[in-house]
Amino acid sequence: MITLAFDVYGTLIDTAGVITALQQKIGGQAYAASEMWRSKQLEYSFRRGLMQNYQDFAVCTRQALDYVCSTMQLSLSRSERDELLASYRSLPAFADVLSGLKACQLAGFRLYAFSNGRTDDVQHLLEQAGIRDFFIDVISTSEISSFKPNPGVYANFLRRASCTGAEAWLISGNPFDVIGALSAGLRSAWIKRNPTAIFDPWEFEPTLTLENLTQLSTSLQHTTIR
Ligand code: LAC
Repeated sequence: MITLAFDVYGTLIDTAGVITALQQKIGGQAYAASEMWRSKQLEYSFRRGLMQNYQDFAVCTRQALDYVCSTMQLSLSRSERDELLASYRSLPAFADVLSGLKACQLAGFRLYAFSNGRTDDVQHLLEQAGIRDFFIDVISTSEISSFKPNPGVYANFLRRASCTGAEAWLISGNPFDVIGALSAGLRSAWIKRNPTAIFDPWEFEPTLTLENLTQLSTSLQHTTIR
């Protein structure tokens, strides 16, 4: 039986809503601010993982927003920043997600959500997007106080989902996550939602590359029986 680990932010859940919330506060700077916010959030998680100085993902997100406000000289009050942080907890799934997950479930794959996000944040996010019930469980990297792509978080996923790397696929829109999973012995599908996205030119290739989740179940069935 094949087990699927779905990344959450940017793979299942569309974070564009955060840009809309930013636009209402800072207008035309919203896009640049959101790009810097996401990249700092990830950088802080990578650094905390390496330093073994864990604070949860919500802390990385908050500190990254403070960095963006200082760098771009945005005068956002604490309560405006809190509103932006709250917008991260209530976001829609991408349009293809519901049918894509249904098809995977019907095909007999075992589905898990697997995220840097805190378990309660991810549970809430999936519930409000109406997709929590597709997943056997939510497995957060917080369980081992670290972040992707520490190999330990993929090993913890396999242990919790009671499967081997050969039986597991990571499904993710984030190339660094795909490479992390491949390096830890899983297979991985890269969901290239942005047609201009570049896959890091390392010595790893995604096992599958798809534009969204629509063809995921069919493609996995072809690949796993080959
Ligand atoms: C996650 C981030 C990496 O959900 O998108 O784990």
